[in-house]
Amino acid sequence: METANETIKQAPLLEARNLTKVYEDGVKALDNLNIKVMPGEIYAMLGGNGAGKTTTINIFLDFIQPTNGNAFINGIDSNSDPLEAKKNVAFVSENVQLYPNFTAMQNIDFFVRLGGKSNYKRSDYENALNRVGLQSEAFDKKLRDFSKGMRQKCGIAIAILKNAPAILLDEPTSGLDPKAGKEFTKLIGELRDEGKAILMSTHDIFRAKEISDHVGILNNGELVAQRTNAELKGVNLEQLYVEYMAGYMEETDQNLVLTNDLN
Ligand SMILES: Nc1ncnc2c1ncn2[C@@H]1O[C@H](COP(=O)(O)OP(=O)(O)OP(=O)(O)O)[C@@H](O)[C@H]1O
Ligand SMILES: [Mg+2]
Repeated sequence: METANETIKQAPLLEARNLTKVYEDGVKALDNLNIKVMPGEIYAMLGGNGAGKTTTINIFLDFIQPTNGNAFINGIDSNSDPLEAKKNVAFVSENVQLYPNFTAMQNIDFFVRLGGKSNYKRSDYENALNRVGLQSEAFDKKLRDFSKGMRQKCGIAIAILKNAPAILLDEPTSGLDPKAGKEFTKLIGELRDEGKAILMSTHDIFRAKEISDHVGILNNGELVAQRTNAELKGVNLEQLYVEYMAGYMEETDQNLVLTNDLN
């Protein structure tokens, strides 16, 4: 019998359903990927270079189309209704693309308005930049003089100001120094506690374990392991990760042997 809890169960804010991507050159980057991120959850995708993490995020953003399957943002199909879907998501890439000749404030004002928000005051922008830890002396400096981490902080501030229910992050801590990385982890924990659904790719196993509600390991476009935070208690995630990658390595080695035998 259905319980009251089940009837009020929330729907996922981000969902990859049987997502498959074969690029034009025949590379199968995703193979039937299924992922759900509920409101108030952080899902970290781990996996080696070329595992399919960025491909997944790019399909959610409709930068590329899936070969099969669907990506839903707040129940809206990202690829058949991209404009509606994208209203529900904020995105921060590894290399934040902002205007070098604009100051931090000018960039924020431009991109926040572009995202459809026009009622913010300078004090709101200042609050967001303080929240991401950008030093106040940099607020009115041009971005061309910013470090990668400082640009990343501006990108995260823009994402916060968009106030979308879902957030996609592609290697968000890659340019950050350890202190900024720690601050960032705290910040996405706060956003999760506000009810956001966060899907991020990362190579930072320790931070993924520390902050995530779910960790998925991708290998060659397949989700080979998925664990909840509770399931990871007492588990050495690095070892688990290496074991899955080792499986892949053996498979590749066998393929290499076979290929060599044929030559
Ligand atoms: N535009 C493209 N055309 C053809 N193949 C692509 C394209 N983009 C990615 N690929 C291939 O798809 C696979 C998955 O790449 P993807 O960028 O999604 O991996 P990733 O997990 O984000 O890796 P990384 O950790 O290095 O960022 C790789 O084999 C890659 O070479
Ligand atoms: Mg990537």
